[in-house]
Amino acid sequence: MSKEKFIVETKDLTKAYRRNNVVESLDLKIKEGEIYGFLGPNGAGKTTTIRMLLGLIESTKGEIQILGKSLKEDRLSILREVGSLVESPSYYPHLTGEQNLEILRKILNVPKSRIEQVLSMVRLTKVADKKVKEYSLGMKQRLGIAAALLGNPRLLILDEPTNGLDPAGIIEIRKLIKQLPESHGITVMISSHLLSEIEELATHVGIITRGKMIFQDSLDQLKKKANHKIFLYTSDLDKTEQVLREEKENVSRNTKGIFIDYCNDDKIWSLVEKLIEQNIRVYRIVEEKVSLEKIFLDLTRSGQTL
Ligand SMILES: Nc1ncnc2c1ncn2[C@@H]1O[C@H](COP(=O)(O)OP(=O)(O)O)[C@@H](O)[C@H]1O
Ligand SMILES: [Mg+2]
Repeated sequence: MSKEKFIVETKDLTKAYRRNNVVESLDLKIKEGEIYGFLGPNGAGKTTTIRMLLGLIESTKGEIQILGKSLKEDRLSILREVGSLVESPSYYPHLTGEQNLEILRKILNVPKSRIEQVLSMVRLTKVADKKVKEYSLGMKQRLGIAAALLGNPRLLILDEPTNGLDPAGIIEIRKLIKQLPESHGITVMISSHLLSEIEELATHVGIITRGKMIFQDSLDQLKKKANHKIFLYTSDLDKTEQVLREEKENVSRNTKGIFIDYCNDDKIWSLVEKLIEQNIRVYRIVEEKVSLEKIFLDLTRSGQTL
C-alpha cells in the first residue's frame, strides 16, 4: 500500500455475490480531517463497501487498511477507534435517550461525562430525559450518531444518515457533521445517493456506480470537471469583463451577466477585491449547479470514468 497517510485505504477491494461483483476493485483513499462523501445511486455498492470496512462482512478480494493498520490483522484495535451508523439503529424505546447511551457507555467503558458531551454535540441535551419512543426520526438518527461518537472515534462512518428525514432534519445532521473534523478532530465518511447532499457537506468525493469507482478527488476538482461556473452580475459588465480577463479568467457573457470557471473562496474574494478597487458594485455571485447534477446523472447511467 502507499506510503501516504490515509485513514482509510483499500486496494482492489471486491465483493462478489454468486460470482457477481457488487463491489469491484475499489481503491478508496480517505485522508485525516476529510469529510469524504461516498456517492452513488441505490444499489451501487455503498453499504456493501461500508460493511466490509467495518468487518461486518468479508471481502472476496483485496486489502483494507484503516488508521494505518490492516483490518485483517488488527480488527478489534481498529474498530475501537471507529464509530459507525449503518442502517437504522435499534434502541430501547421505553428508555430515555440518555439511558440508552448509558447502556452503551458501560460496554465501551468510557467516563460518564462523555454522555453529556455527545448529547450536546448532536444537540439532544434538551430531550435527553425523554423516552426514545417519543423521538422524531431525526432525533433517533442523531441519537445514533451520538452513540457512534461515544467511544471518542477518530473515524466516523455514516451510511446514508439522512435517509427518510425531512429537510429540517437533514439540515440539522449536516450542521452536526460539518463541524466534526475541525472541532473534534474526527474524519468522516458519509454515504448518500444524493449529489446535493454531498455537495453541501463533503470536502472529498468518491463516486461509485455498479460497484466501480468512477471518480475520487476533492469536491473542488469534481466541480471543475463538471464545468461548474460562477455567475456574476455587477454595476458595469463591460468593465467587469475587462478586469476578469486581466486576471486570466475564462470569461463568457450572456445578456444577464458574466460567467467564469469555478474557483475556490479565496480566489473569488481576490477577484471581488479587484472589482471593488475599480468601483464596480458586485450585486450577485452565484454558483451554477445544474451542470454538475447532469454530469453525475450521465456518469452514473453510463458507468464511464470521469
Ligand atoms: N447479501 C447479499 N446477497 C446478494 N446480493 C446482495 C447482498 N447484499 C447486497 N447485494 C446486492 O449488491 C448490490 C449493492 O448493494 P448495496 O451495497 O446495498 O448498494 P447501496 O448501498 O449503494 O444502495 C445490490 O445490487 C444488492 O442487491
Ligand atoms: Mg445502502
